[in-house]
Formats: sequence, structure tokens, C-alpha cells
Amino acid sequence: MSIRPQVSYSTIPSPCFVLEENLLIKNLQLLQRVQQEAGIDIICALKGFSFYHEFPLVKQYLAGATASSLHEARLAYEEMGVKCHVYSPAYLEHEFEELASYTSHLSFNSLNQYQQYYTRAKEKGISCGVRINPEYAEVDTDMYNPCVAGSRLGIRRSDLGSHLPDGIEGLHSHTLCENDSFVLERTLSVIEEKFGDLLPQISWLNLGGGHLITRADYDVNHLIQLLKGFKSKYPNLSIIMEPGSAIGWQTGFLKSTVLDIVDSAGIQVAILDVSFAAHMPDTLEMPYKPRIRYAYHEPVEGKPTYRFGGMTCLAGDYYGDYSFDEPLKIGDEIILEDMIHYTMVKTTTFNGVNLPSIGKLNTRNEFVLYKRFGYESFKDRL
Ligand SMILES: Cc1ncc(COP(=O)(O)O)c(C=O)c1O
Repeated sequence: MSIRPQVSYSTIPSPCFVLEENLLIKNLQLLQRVQQEAGIDIICALKGFSFYHEFPLVKQYLAGATASSLHEARLAYEEMGVKCHVYSPAYLEHEFEELASYTSHLSFNSLNQYQQYYTRAKEKGISCGVRINPEYAEVDTDMYNPCVAGSRLGIRRSDLGSHLPDGIEGLHSHTLCENDSFVLERTLSVIEEKFGDLLPQISWLNLGGGHLITRADYDVNHLIQLLKGFKSKYPNLSIIMEPGSAIGWQTGFLKSTVLDIVDSAGIQVAILDVSFAAHMPDTLEMPYKPRIRYAYHEPVEGKPTYRFGGMTCLAGDYYGDYSFDEPLKIGDEIILEDMIHYTMVKTTTFNGVNLPSIGKLNTRNEFVLYKRFGYESFKDRL
């Protein structure tokens, strides 16, 4: 840990989500290496990474995009210039025509959905698949586990006959969440065990997201060997992976500012110009304690220690406690780390709080502002 500089990003407005382009390029290069060495396609899941200002860059490295709604598919089509792989638990009748125009591959969540939309998708030249539920996931939090009892996501083997429905060319399986390649290895074994007889009937297998390939301890070489081995057994298959988190993983921060410091029965609470509930909901939902630059992640006896409060009136809108080498002051800059994947797509204007601006530090470390928000963003959604 180093001593906090007084102000490190004085030219950046507060609050602001800031993507660090050099870090994004590092992630994209690693994912490109996996694609090239394993001979697979990696596509960007917009649900985890919708920072569309960088889509032209993403396109230079990855094979495309995956969407779970009309709006995501349109964004990828307009900003990345690709037709998407699409999966949604259920499609909307009045959107389907437009959705199909942005789609190259489409997965159905049920046989009902297949019956309702297959013919129209086929007429548009879309390659169709079905999402399977292998009933195997190594995910601790039920909220993120697509294989929990009663899950609505995907078709169980017992509900699929020995032949896939007419025209189905692919299988889609998404059961991982921030997992490593060894979890994928065990998942692939289950897929082979339960759905192995169907694999010769298809031409693509989409292994979903949840592969945290860009995390420092991920065994990339193991992943490459695993995928090469699988491909050599099923040369008829193109393999697709669609991570979201792995693309934006540790590629930027949320800059905030201390607005006040209050003493609450001996606890020093620094109130920020951001909200955990409205701007970083995963910190409360998952939950996880966000890293703060220049702070000790856990309180250290004898050092100035603070709880950070959000600017909404929600009692639980706070996180702590963190220690610093020097006391904080009103006006100090607080940098919340790793706030690019999933954060921006999940922000709300709860309590009427404004949304953080959006910008990037380019490859020369210069700040570029993309967006500022205001009253209209609040009013528009009401
Ligand atoms: C079907 C599907 N694909 C891809 C993803 C992206 O997952 P991650 O961001 O964890 O890589 C998700 C996330 O929930 C998903 O539901």
C-alpha cells in the first residue's frame, strides 16, 4: 500500500466511471490468445460489459457479441457492427422481427419457444439452438446458480428426446459464475455424460459465460489444453464462449469524493457523492466489499478508519470499514476499484441521485469524457 496522493485525477469529474483502456487491451489480448490457441470463438456478453464506446476496440480482438434482449442486440449491431448470438428465457412477439434482424445465432429456452419462433428465425437465415440445463453448477450463491432446483433456465435432459427438434444446430449451456477452467472441465464431463449422444447432431456448442479467464490466478494454459482436447473429440463442433465479466475485469474504477465526515457513536463515516445501492448494487446484492485504492481493505488498529456511506437515505447504503495511513478530509478523492463490469448496466437513479459520468483514460493516460447525466435521466424512467 502506498500513501494516498492529495488529488490524482483532478481533471476527472466526480463521480465518474473511468475505464482504463490499457487494462482493457490487456484483457482482450489474453482472450484473443485463447481464441487463437484453442481454436474457439470468444464473444462479448453485453449483460456484463456494455461499455459500447469501446466496442470498436473489442471487435478488433473478439469474434462478436452475445445479447439477451432486443436492446442489447441492437447496441451490438449498431456499435460493434456485428449480428449477435442471442439467448433470452422468452422472446417477445412484438419484438421478434426486429430482434431477428440483429441476430446470427439464437437459442431457445424451451420447446414451446422453439415451436413459437423457429420457423420465423429459420426464414431469416438464423442458426438456431436450445439452451440445456446440465443440472450441474459449482456456484455458491443461489442468485447466480442457473441449476438451482426449479430453475427456469434451460431444458433438462429428461425433457429432451433422443433427437433434437428439427433444424436445431446448436446447444447452449451457461452454468458458470466467476469460475475457473477446472470447473469448466467438470462441467464438460457432465455435458458429455448427459448430452453426449446429441453432440454429433449439432455444429456449435456455446459454453456460456462465467469463465473468469482474465483473473490473475486463472490457468489459461489448462483452459487451452482442455478446449483443444474437447475439440479433437468433436471436430464437428465450433466452440463458443461468451464471458462478460472477464472482459471488463479490473479495467477501471469509480471516482468519488468525500462530501462529509460524521462521527456516529465513535465510528467515522465518510459520506461519498456515490451510492452503493444505486451505483454499485452488486456490492450489496452479491454481496462483496469493494476495494478502495490506497486503503487497507480491513481495519488496522491505530490507523484512521472509516466507513463509507452512500448519498441515498437507505440505511444499508454503506460499506466498511477501511483504514488509511492519513486521516481523510472533506473533498478527498476516493477511488473504488474494479467498477466497470456489471456496474454501469445495473445503475439506478434511486432517491433521485444522479448517475456517475462515464469516461476513459486512453492509452496515453489522457481522460476522455463520454457522458454526463442530469435530471432527464431520472425523469425519463418514471
Ligand atoms: C447466458 C449468459 N451468457 C453469458 C453471461 C455472462 O457471464 P459472465 O459475465 O459471468 O461471464 C451470462 C451472465 O449471467 C449469461 O446469463
